[in-house]
Amino acid sequence: MKVTLEELKQKPMPKHIAVIMDGNGRWAINKGLARNAGHRVGVQALKNLIIALDELKIQYLTVYAFSTENWKRPADEVNALMELMIEFIDKEIDYLDEKGVRVNPIGDISRLSGKTYEKIMFAKEKTKNNSHIILNVALNYGGRQEIIRAAKAFCEDVQKGNMQLDDLDEACFSRYLYTAGQPDPDLLIRPSGEMRVSNFLLWQIAYSEFWVTNILWPDFKKEHLWQAIWDYQNRDRRYGGLGGKRS
Ligand code: IPE
Ligand code: IPE
Ligand code: MG
Repeated sequence: MKVTLEELKQKPMPKHIAVIMDGNGRWAINKGLARNAGHRVGVQALKNLIIALDELKIQYLTVYAFSTENWKRPADEVNALMELMIEFIDKEIDYLDEKGVRVNPIGDISRLSGKTYEKIMFAKEKTKNNSHIILNVALNYGGRQEIIRAAKAFCEDVQKGNMQLDDLDEACFSRYLYTAGQPDPDLLIRPSGEMRVSNFLLWQIAYSEFWVTNILWPDFKKEHLWQAIWDYQNRDRRYGGLGGKRS
């Protein structure tokens, strides 16, 4: 079944979508290409996703671009990914800025190479006043790392006397995460068919709806996004209660 824009607009849109951009390597191998060719097409798929979100007026997007575990890959693949990020920013930053996108890196970007770090900081600084779309780019990101970082920051505030132990509750802890002030993702999309979260947004996805497709990330198109949103809109989010199934 093909979903139309009119149908999607009849029900509430997700406010925040998170995407694990997975399957670039397999896409390339399937075509007899080098893995890095898949990463290159994957970047184009990200641009198309941003355009599609803009059309749907969805404000928050978090994309997993490089995990704390991705350092295990061969150096030439890691370097190619870093180069692609620089290229993406060089090529697209004016477009993103015009569209009102705020580029918000999340993760320990200080561990990236100097050149990559500086380019990402440039993109962040240039777009810092934009609010039309908040694009969280998870780079050297790990959900556990984020939680430990937040716990340390809270403890530091306690040591300094800025906070009391009793101030700590879920809302307070959330303010120490990279996504402070943002709604949690309503919908988590994972292409390439893997049924795991791979250390992505562990805190924030507590009640996100999970949508997995066998489509590989470089092949991910607007129609897949629309299908994901349609399925999301037709689920019963019960949050542990009885939801729409009350009788
Ligand atoms: C996702 O694609 C991109 C990154 C992890 C940076 P993969 O490179 O993981 O692609 P597969 O899973 O090997 O197909
Ligand atoms: C998750 O994909 C990380 C990114 C998409 C950046 P991986 O390909 O690294 O995940 P695993 O290894 O299949 O769990
Ligand atoms: Mg993968």
